[in-house]
Amino acid sequence: MTLPETDELQVDLGERGYSIFIGEQLLSRSGELISRVALSRRAFIVSNETVAPWYRESLQKSLADQNMDSDVLILPDGEQYKNWDELYTILGWLLASHAERKTPLIALGGGVIGDIGGLAAALYQRGMPLVQIPTSLLAQVDSSVGGKTAVNHPLGKNMIGAFHQPKLVLIDTETLATLPKREYISGIAEIIKYGAICNIGFLDRLEENARRLLARESSILRYVIKESCRIKAEIVAADERESGMRALLNLGHTFGHAIETALGYGTWLHGEAISAGMVLAARLSEEVCGLKVEDTERMIHILDSFGLPVRAPEIDPGTWLTLMQRDKKTVGGKTSFILLKQLGQAFVCDDVSDEALLKVIKYAAR
Ligand code: NAD
Ligand code: GLY
Repeated sequence: MTLPETDELQVDLGERGYSIFIGEQLLSRSGELISRVALSRRAFIVSNETVAPWYRESLQKSLADQNMDSDVLILPDGEQYKNWDELYTILGWLLASHAERKTPLIALGGGVIGDIGGLAAALYQRGMPLVQIPTSLLAQVDSSVGGKTAVNHPLGKNMIGAFHQPKLVLIDTETLATLPKREYISGIAEIIKYGAICNIGFLDRLEENARRLLARESSILRYVIKESCRIKAEIVAADERESGMRALLNLGHTFGHAIETALGYGTWLHGEAISAGMVLAARLSEEVCGLKVEDTERMIHILDSFGLPVRAPEIDPGTWLTLMQRDKKTVGGKTSFILLKQLGQAFVCDDVSDEALLKVIKYAAR
């Protein structure tokens, strides 16, 4: 039997470096790839009630073929469950199952499972090996790569977390066939983000191929996932702990996280909030650093052509300000923003006046 062609990218982080495999039928080959990085004959799988029925069996069979036993914990589905209680459930399950420090934890699901499973792996016995098997588009192009793990707090999104790089990322593009349309489109926001921050050529390709991408054509999908992971891997390798350029990956996120928290987790999907947030970041860039209105309009046009929201929901200005000040990018009470000099060229700005911010927030409310 000939196996489908697989791409392999590297995240160059020295002893914390790892491979990202991208291809079809990867779940059925996962046992072999995982056993290469695991120093254990056992594995713990964290998934959710939506993803597990589709993909758990194939993963467990592939592990069994490599003589690896596996246990599965199935969490409820939803952003509202990316919380302390569910994290504690995972940790209790690992303890009750006598998980050892070298036993890998496999996160099988979207970004929620990747983030909460990743944080459990970071905490359990001060760190166990993590394997990310992302099954949503957003997780395949963004959250499974780079080692950010977290849960939400009612007062702020992703506020409790740790950096914990995976040992391996396995992206089986066939899993996207079962992803609901709204979730699929939400993932496209993070893909557009890469073009907007640092690669105008990629943005051009996305614009040209919008119809094919929306139709989930495999060749364009594979190109887009690979290019997104390549850009992210390069940025993470250069700045693992976000002391500089990694912050660019947060374009639209200060606004977006405020939207998610204000509306209640799960009301707007993460990518939807980031989409509207990127438009606000572009408007703020017009105010602060003279981004051309045409660039903002082009960004709106691209987001809109994929069916992503380009207007923020109604949130009162006081709530906007409170939530944004609680953002992780706040130093000494001052929040820095990722702004655009032009499309394809983002930078970190520590000098945004309250006046400019209020103008943009008021614009958002119209
Ligand atoms: P999600 O994990 O909630 O998945 C979206 C929905 O799709 C869920 O209902 C899920 O069960 C379902 N699903 C996933 N894969 C499926 C499949 N193959 N078939 C059918 N259904 C499937 O959300 P998401 O959009 O994947 O991720 C969003 C989360 O990622 C947010 O919490 C966000 O903060 C986080 N995030 C983290 C990083 C990071 O660097 N760690 C980066 C970006 C986003
Ligand atoms: N999604 C932002 C980051 O990984 O840094």
